[in-house]
Amino acid sequence: MTTYALITGASSGLGLALAEALARRGRNLILVARQRDALESIACELTQRFGVEALYRVCDLAEPMQISGLIQELEQGERQVDLLVNNAGIGSAGLFVEQDWSREQELIELNILALSRLCHDLGYHMVKQGRGQILNVASVAAFQPGPLMSNYFASKAYVLHFSEGLRNELAPHGVKVSVLCPGPIATPFFRHSQIRSSGLERRQLLANPEEVALLAVHGLERNRAIIIPGWRNRLVPLLIRLMPRALSRRLAMRMIKPTLPR
Ligand SMILES: NC(=O)c1ccc[n+]([C@@H]2O[C@H](COP(=O)([O-])OP(=O)(O)OC[C@H]3O[C@@H](n4cnc5c(N)ncnc54)[C@H](OP(=O)(O)O)[C@@H]3O)[C@@H](O)[C@H]2O)c1
Repeated sequence: MTTYALITGASSGLGLALAEALARRGRNLILVARQRDALESIACELTQRFGVEALYRVCDLAEPMQISGLIQELEQGERQVDLLVNNAGIGSAGLFVEQDWSREQELIELNILALSRLCHDLGYHMVKQGRGQILNVASVAAFQPGPLMSNYFASKAYVLHFSEGLRNELAPHGVKVSVLCPGPIATPFFRHSQIRSSGLERRQLLANPEEVALLAVHGLERNRAIIIPGWRNRLVPLLIRLMPRALSRRLAMRMIKPTLPR
């Protein structure tokens, strides 16, 4: 049976860079996102450049029924997913109570529920096979509360803790679980989430998605539990652990404030 790496949010940014890094290593791919045209041209390009089989599936992962359809199709077909990359995610910023609830709900559906559901259903098959690998994309935001981005930071804390728990749970069954915690990356994420990134750009704090993807794949190959690309980002969890929580909340809010739309 042919095996595939399934990547969510593969139509842009980090997901696209991860798809390319895995195709470069000869992995067959199933690319998942909502934008059909983008997925189609990415799948076509990766097939041509790397000679891998790159399939795509259009799926709104914030819609549980659409996830059911995707999983059903995978279960009925001859395609075995031996690497799941849960990358799709959205952000939101501003006073939580003033945000559109439908956006906040979508964030929870996508960043938390869809990720957990895919780990559950595809993880089940991996355990039955006695092998498989999962990479969940969190963020350095996972290590602390983020006032004015409370929902997003909390969703990433969930991803970090959930992935670490799952790692030890599934290791005896031959399934490896890693979590990626990048700092800010130059992707359309900020535009999609209506967050201003000009300050980060000015201070050259935005990483290149291709470099982050490469480090993520290295980390996966070494079966790292938590992959934090870049030395500056690796300091974040250490500093936060040493700092009083009240101070870390204040600093996070001070950093987030200038990114809010005026
Ligand atoms: N950029 C950063 O600074 C940064 C830092 C740390 C962590 N991260 C995390 O990295 C991951 C990738 O983000 P990115 O920076 O690459 O942002 P991005 O360019 O906005 O990519 C997000 C991807 O998720 C997909 N997506 C969004 N909503 C979806 C839905 N309802 N159903 C299916 N797919 C959906 C988008 O595709 P469609 O629009 O085609 O659906 C797109 O492919 C996210 O989990 C993000 O939280 C980003």
